[in-house]
Amino acid sequence: MATTKAATVTASDAIDLLVQDHDKVENMFTRIEQGVSKETAQELFTTIYHELTLHAIVEEQIFYPAVAQKPSFKDLLKDAFSEHAEVKQQLGDISYLEPASAEWTKMMGKVWKELQHHINDEEEKLFPKVREEFTEKELKALAGELEEGKHSKLDSELLSMPLGFAKEAKEKKTSTHTRAKAS
Ligand SMILES: [Fe+2]
Ligand SMILES: [Fe+2]
Repeated sequence: MATTKAATVTASDAIDLLVQDHDKVENMFTRIEQGVSKETAQELFTTIYHELTLHAIVEEQIFYPAVAQKPSFKDLLKDAFSEHAEVKQQLGDISYLEPASAEWTKMMGKVWKELQHHINDEEEKLFPKVREEFTEKELKALAGELEEGKHSKLDSELLSMPLGFAKEAKEKKTSTHTRAKAS
């Protein structure tokens, strides 16, 4: 079958792309649930935060507004923004906790539960209706916009990190630097 180079890296349409993001985050939360070292916890937290920030930005700025052009989606989009904000707020709070500590793990479990609720709403209610009401051509064009949006947004991980984590990462950088200098 003839495949273009772009097709191997590009999700086939906007829904596929957003579901891929959800799956990526789910894998990371599953790893956390199975128990991880402090270092891995910190790494996973950074990636989760970064992925979710980008995902929420392109949903809020590109996907939801495109969908909201059809009035029948009003109810389905009603809670989406506040649910994103709630998750972001909670991750911000978690960034002050010791990665992989009991409190950190408990809070990550809590935020995952809320996120699952949001993801299920999208995958079971919103996305199927979008598939019904938008043409495949429209969804492919939307995928292009979402990918472009992601590339043009946040390149710097630290730029998109909450305060507590940014502080710790900075301290870690400084101490690594100091150690490197001392040796
Ligand atoms: Fe989503
Ligand atoms: Fe969302």
